[in-house]
Amino acid sequence: MPKPPPQAVSKPVAVPQPALPAKPQMSELEVLIRARYPLVYVISWEEQRVLHQVTQIGAKLNKSVFEWSINTGLVPAGTNLQAQKQRDAATEDPLVALGNVIDHVEPALYVFKDFHPFLKCQNMSVVRRLREVASSLKNTYKTIVIVSPMLEMPPELEKDITIIDFDLPRANDFTLLLQRIVEEVKGNPKLKVNINGQMKEQIVHALLGLTLAEAENVLAKTLVQHYGFGPESLEVINAEKRQIIRKSGLLEYYDTDENMSSVGGLDSLKSWLLKRSVAFSDRAREYGLPAPKGVLLLGVQGCGKSLMAKTVSNIWNLPLLRFDVGRVFGSLVGSSEQNIRRAIQVAESVAPVVFWIDEIDKAFRGSRGSGASTDAGTSARVFSTFLTWMSEKKSPVFVIATANDISALPPELLRKGRFDEIFFVDLPTSGERQDVFRVHLSKRKMDPAKFDLETLARTADGYSGAEIEEAIISSMFDAFYDKQELTSERLLSSLHQTVPLSRTMKEDIDALRQWAAGRAHPATSPDAGQEGQGQRRLEI
Ligand SMILES: Nc1ncnc2c1ncn2[C@@H]1O[C@H](COP(=O)(O)OP(=O)(O)OP(=O)(O)O)[C@@H](O)[C@H]1O
Ligand SMILES: [Mg+2]
Repeated sequence: MPKPPPQAVSKPVAVPQPALPAKPQMSELEVLIRARYPLVYVISWEEQRVLHQVTQIGAKLNKSVFEWSINTGLVPAGTNLQAQKQRDAATEDPLVALGNVIDHVEPALYVFKDFHPFLKCQNMSVVRRLREVASSLKNTYKTIVIVSPMLEMPPELEKDITIIDFDLPRANDFTLLLQRIVEEVKGNPKLKVNINGQMKEQIVHALLGLTLAEAENVLAKTLVQHYGFGPESLEVINAEKRQIIRKSGLLEYYDTDENMSSVGGLDSLKSWLLKRSVAFSDRAREYGLPAPKGVLLLGVQGCGKSLMAKTVSNIWNLPLLRFDVGRVFGSLVGSSEQNIRRAIQVAESVAPVVFWIDEIDKAFRGSRGSGASTDAGTSARVFSTFLTWMSEKKSPVFVIATANDISALPPELLRKGRFDEIFFVDLPTSGERQDVFRVHLSKRKMDPAKFDLETLARTADGYSGAEIEEAIISSMFDAFYDKQELTSERLLSSLHQTVPLSRTMKEDIDALRQWAAGRAHPATSPDAGQEGQGQRRLEI
């Protein structure tokens, strides 16, 4: 048989044949089918993978499998469109199809594709019929599996339908996919697909986080662009993956070169993080250490919370996924629920990973919002999805969240078990301020030893790290304009001209400190202060 030319592989490759090995443990779907749940709603973009899994379960349990779509009606699963002899056009009507399900006597599984529009428009006769199906199927060996990328759930059906997420493909699925594609094109002299085990592993690892169809397209693209698989494939896959992940609306791969030395002070927090830098290794698992769940950094504005979150991925050498929680309820993004589920799925499939949720308080404020754009029911479901995940997650996804408004945070989020630790990031102490000056002067190619750091730190009492950085930048502008070197005097006069936020927001900061006392772990150790044993004065 002639091998396809290189261009031919850009077409989506057929869905994997039923050669996939059975999962070592029972899938959630199988458990529900065995437990005779009548209606299961699978949220997934991967119709074919779901159908494939249902077919496998059907074979195992000796049940016939049927599929339904608005174009084909109810037909035996896997029936070729052209060869559909038993096609009953009347079953294209969902009510007729559901009626047929009730009337079937044999044990069977029914996969309904793209059924959500009938639930979305509150088609009352379909909703009613589904409720009847649910009660009639309870004592039979039949299950309906609705598969759809969106969750549409009329309240009438909430008690009758069980919702599950379908996991994204695992490394094993991608290995099989890669093998199959290599098999298909290896005879083509234009393509170089002979790759070693290590390269294969790297490609498979890079594909994690994608659906099978997305992975197929990306692999086809690398073949067309580079005539084979090799190190360039990794670049193509990673670039494509970034785009696909960004398209999900809420997640973004975040590149940063910040590291521990970019942060002044915060010694307790740093040492907590350093101690956990090996926490995701196999050695730590063997030793019996659980993977850290996450940390909440709470504190005063501009004191390094976001900065610290960015450094963690570099300290631990893990990728950083930024989760834009502020957009969960944004009108720019589609359905909030399916987006948060996809974000969680992506994070889990690329784990180990650092999952950064910046300004989590803003999202919670939004969810309580009075705005017409937010719907209380959806917000509550989105947050319960998130909170349940936080407390139950087993995958090595380390959540690092930052916040500065404690009143916006619901108590459930702060309850034990969600985060390993809550750190309070206060205004920098005198010693820390010296450190911050050092960090930012060196960052701008100046020698900190040439500055009177002690006086500068004393004068900057009540200033945040961000304000110190601002003062340095603004006096650098002045010095550059005057064609002079930056001096301590210039820095001092710049500091004198600014009123730190800590003065205008004294009450807020006091309230935050009061809340944090006893509830949160200080990010700075008591002896790191030098001045008044770590005590900070707000007024100079
Ligand atoms: N401890 C610090 N060491 C070095 N730089 C700092 C420190 N704190 C703040 N900065 C500087 O200020 C900038 C802003 O800080 P960052 O965004 O981390 O503040 P934040 O605590 O997240 O504030 P917010 O609550 O307003 O989000 C940082 O990018 C960094 O340049
Ligand atoms: Mg921040």
